[in-house]
Amino acid sequence: MNSTLTVLGLESSCDDTAAAVVRHEIGKPADVLSSVVHGQDNLHSEYGGVVPEIAARAHAERLDFCLEEALAEAGKTLDDADAIAVTAGPGLIGGLLAGVSFAKGLCAGSGKPLLGINHLAGHALTARLTDGVEFPYLALLISGGHCQFLAVLGADRFIRLGGTLDDAPGEAFDKSARTLGLPQPGGPAIEAAARGNKDRFAFPRPLSGKHGCNMSFSGLKTSLVRACDGLDRHNGKLGKNDIADLCAGFQAAITDIIVEKSNTAFEAYVERTGQRANAFAVCGGVAANQTVRAGLNTLCSEKDAMFIAPEPQYCTDNGAMIAWAGIERYRLGLFDDFNLPAHPRWPLDTESPPLVGFGKRGAKS
Ligand code: KG4
Ligand code: ZN
Repeated sequence: MNSTLTVLGLESSCDDTAAAVVRHEIGKPADVLSSVVHGQDNLHSEYGGVVPEIAARAHAERLDFCLEEALAEAGKTLDDADAIAVTAGPGLIGGLLAGVSFAKGLCAGSGKPLLGINHLAGHALTARLTDGVEFPYLALLISGGHCQFLAVLGADRFIRLGGTLDDAPGEAFDKSARTLGLPQPGGPAIEAAARGNKDRFAFPRPLSGKHGCNMSFSGLKTSLVRACDGLDRHNGKLGKNDIADLCAGFQAAITDIIVEKSNTAFEAYVERTGQRANAFAVCGGVAANQTVRAGLNTLCSEKDAMFIAPEPQYCTDNGAMIAWAGIERYRLGLFDDFNLPAHPRWPLDTESPPLVGFGKRGAKS
């Protein structure tokens, strides 16, 4: 087995086309030689959400030059790669098929091995790419379409400890930003606007004090709509100060929910694995939020656990996390052949029962 691996990673499961080259030598930190992301926000903005057909076409058109850019930036050619890793699910089927077919074509032409990657595993393993954390650890995935606590026991072994019963937090950010007339993606827009008084409006903390580490975010959107109902508008628009207070209150509520349930997730981790969690990694797009990160950082200090929050570009969708998950699977000998399917749904932990509301998730994953 090669002690140094160079793997290409391709991502096209939602609305970011991404390619990256990652090199890793056993015993050393991983090296992201390049990570190129072509977002599609401008293609979907007028529709208020991701349009699957438009996304699939854009991926099909962009994958090849995205890969060319990633190879050029890394100073590598296809020949230098030991394998090609591609997101095979979960996500939007058109985008997944574009990526999986493209990767199969590259492998067929070059004779390189193919590695089909679960997008959620990509997010959950990012803490090993960026910080080299050892297994096992506790991970919280918070993105536009997913929200779950995971005990990460190995590159292919995950236990889901809990998750959202309805919306993912990124979905709540995105939909609420729309209500406020802020641009998409909503999370960064709300974060930037959240300079006001977080206590002016009362937002609920659903499931607070309840046993377990499941979460619920859909009630927050309704509270925001109700709070807006009572406010003056000028030419249909809310005032700047009102928006600042609403965003601050909304972001504080999401943070409180996440931090409280992360606290109980530490207990659930002990119940399910029989050991305490020494490290806690947050991942997914919402992990880019500074208020959420600060709340989790404080909790981890109290718990005496190492807190890992990757740089924002490795929290949102990217190819480097897929290349890294590919390196992990390569080392376990978990290769795929040309029968690799694209899975629109692909839970990481197939043994835990589905959460209530599973299947109602948004387009993102
Ligand atoms: O992981 P990601 O890029 O795609 C999915 O797999 O979903 O996450 C995108 C989500 C969006 O809902 C976006 O609004 C949210 O992450 N997001 C944020 C921030 N940056 C991205 N939410 C809150 N604060 C941020 N700074
Ligand atoms: Zn994602």
